Amino acid sequence: MRVYVAGTGRCLPPDVLTNADFARMVDTSDEWIVGHTGIRTRHIARTMKNVDMAEAAARAAMENAGCTPADIDMVVVSTVTPDRMYPALACDLQNRLDLPDVFCMDVSAACSGFIYAVDVAARRILTGGARTALVVASEKLTATVDYTDRTTCILFGDGAGAAVLRGDEKEGGGWLGSFLAARGDDGAALHCMPGGQLKMEGHEVFRFAVRVMPEAIEKLLGSTGHVISDCKFVIPHQANLRIIRAVQRRYALPEEKVVVTVDRYGNMSSACIPIALDELNQAGRLEPGDLLLMVGFGAGLTYGAALFEWGE
Ligand code: ACO
Repeated sequence: MRVYVAGTGRCLPPDVLTNADFARMVDTSDEWIVGHTGIRTRHIARTMKNVDMAEAAARAAMENAGCTPADIDMVVVSTVTPDRMYPALACDLQNRLDLPDVFCMDVSAACSGFIYAVDVAARRILTGGARTALVVASEKLTATVDYTDRTTCILFGDGAGAAVLRGDEKEGGGWLGSFLAARGDDGAALHCMPGGQLKMEGHEVFRFAVRVMPEAIEKLLGSTGHVISDCKFVIPHQANLRIIRAVQRRYALPEEKVVVTVDRYGNMSSACIPIALDELNQAGRLEPGDLLLMVGFGAGLTYGAALFEWGE
């Protein structure tokens, strides 16, 4: 049996904050922000709740997959910014989409969350617990951002990405595996208290990211027997263009293989990777047999990578 991506979708809320907007709010400049992060704009959910974005992305992915609510027998939502502490956003989403009484839960693994959520869904499908899973990563990070702190406020945006994963009896292809890990003793480097604001030691997270992304890539590819040059695209978590370029340089990857959205959307935590995936899919840039490597890191501190072979 295998699990493949049957459809993808995304939602970016309509309001946009530019670097010029931040220069009016705090002591910063377009030159500093672009030079240190690569970010130019980010979308902000002023009126949309997290579940509104999750619903829009999920509906787009279901339409792309050609499936109806009755087909979905599992929902996993990755979020660290739910509208309420509980119930799970996945249950709200189930209600919005009129899904039957199926498995619904949230995953809290911050920016690595989509890779974690895919792992949960893929393994449940492979062990016979579900056939068609809706995996959504939806984040309203700006609800936790301190807009007086120039060192963090410029980094984050809101958005949601979704994928429908389907199992069938064909051999090979689809989800080829993942490597997932966390280092809780570094947890203080990036955290948010209930109802509070995001706190980050930027340097520490930066160093962690540059160290663990290659570790995740090598452990994953070592377990699947692939090499990075086999991959058509690498989709890294989008926290900072300098982190992305460090990974690209380490493996001497051509620029066109490494997907970048951070310039337009900033860091949307776990939503970054599925939004980038949907952009590739909707632009018709994916062909059957293409290998896609996703790699991320985030609060936890968590990290991980996943490998897919595209195609039905
Ligand atoms: N505008 C102007 N100056 C600024 C700004 C700003 N927006 N922010 C910081 N500065 C200043 C600092 O105060 C400092 O000034 P000083 O030298 O007088 O003290 C100077 O610029 C340099 O600051 P650094 O912190 O050294 O800047 P750096 O180049 O390291 O960039 C950044 C900081 C962008 C936060 C970087 O460390 C980073 O990207 N870290 C990783 C962040 C990350 O990946 N987070 C993951 C979050 S994921 C999740 O799970 C939510």
